[in-house]
Amino acid sequence: MDTIANAITIERAKTSKIDQVDFNNLAFGKVLTDHMLVCDYKNGAWETPKVVPYQPITLDPSAKIFHYGQSVFEGMKAYKDSEENVWLFRPLDNHKRINISSKRLAIPEIPEDYFMEGLKALLKVDEQWIPTSEGSSLYIRPFIFATGTGFHASPADEYKMIIACAPSGSYFAGKVKVLIEETYSRSANGGVGFAKAGGNYAGQFYPTQLAVEKGYNQVIWTDDNTHEYIEEAGAMNIFIRINDTLITSPTSDRILDGITRKSIIEIAKDENIPVEVRKITVSEVVEASKNGSLKEMFGAGTAAVISPISGFGYRNEEYDLPELENSYAALLKKRITDIQYNKVEDKFGWRYKL
Ligand code: PLP
Ligand code: COI
Repeated sequence: MDTIANAITIERAKTSKIDQVDFNNLAFGKVLTDHMLVCDYKNGAWETPKVVPYQPITLDPSAKIFHYGQSVFEGMKAYKDSEENVWLFRPLDNHKRINISSKRLAIPEIPEDYFMEGLKALLKVDEQWIPTSEGSSLYIRPFIFATGTGFHASPADEYKMIIACAPSGSYFAGKVKVLIEETYSRSANGGVGFAKAGGNYAGQFYPTQLAVEKGYNQVIWTDDNTHEYIEEAGAMNIFIRINDTLITSPTSDRILDGITRKSIIEIAKDENIPVEVRKITVSEVVEASKNGSLKEMFGAGTAAVISPISGFGYRNEEYDLPELENSYAALLKKRITDIQYNKVEDKFGWRYKL
């Protein structure tokens, strides 16, 4: 571990943009910090990561990322507590997942110490960019893409990992309305839906645009085979509360194994909330909405945190969700963010000190 940590080089930016940033009014992922981590894969091995000033990169037009979409990414956050200590949340799970994604896209896996020590070196250099304003954090975006060249449709021989960071506020500006989709599919059995592959998101943009034109913020994807089962949303996993029970779909080939999702399942169980990880049909949710047993729906993800859903559309009908006084969404959001911002003891061992 020590060797790579000591080998990482740091080139500091000559000037900082930080004074131009309004930390009390942060959008999501718009302003990037002064530095980034770069790590290249060449000649069959990852080279030593470098912290460099944030800057554009130059790529050969035949780089395979442009033609064949070999690219994966992660989403993480760094949180500052009231004493200015910096925390990550389950970062080793992000490292594991980027390798799961990479493997599926025939991208070489990045060793844990390169990822973690590189990330830590970057965060130390850009530490003053981690916001302290309520509800804000430093969004961290590690990504790996094919820089190797040529039009042959086969895996590249060179790759680049970059970790870039953006001090960020909420992902959604207001209430979240979702459209339950049954024409388009996000993923299929045997496909890449479980991976954080760039192309999964590109494929969602057109159907999501159509939904946005109709007044929705996100699409809830159903299974590609029957379109009868709720799977996940474009940028978050989905939880549904019917009466007192919290339900979420099992992960599969088609669904991202969200770190927030699995944490929420554990916290909910700890709160003695009945949790069911099972397939749930759209008709069950529609029926529950009609008979009043559908109490809440919310999305869970790193960017989305816990985002309550105010209503959903399905087959040209609108279904509103009640506004609850004591929602599971509010309770679970408080519990998870209290752990992330080091406001409470972390009995699960999820917090990771920088
Ligand atoms: N599902 C999709 C498609 C996502 O992009 C994300 C975001 O990362 C999630 C779910 C939530 O995953 P996590 O909680 O690990 O951020
Ligand atoms: C995240 O929550 O970190 C994600 O990667 C979702 C993204 C599409 C913003």
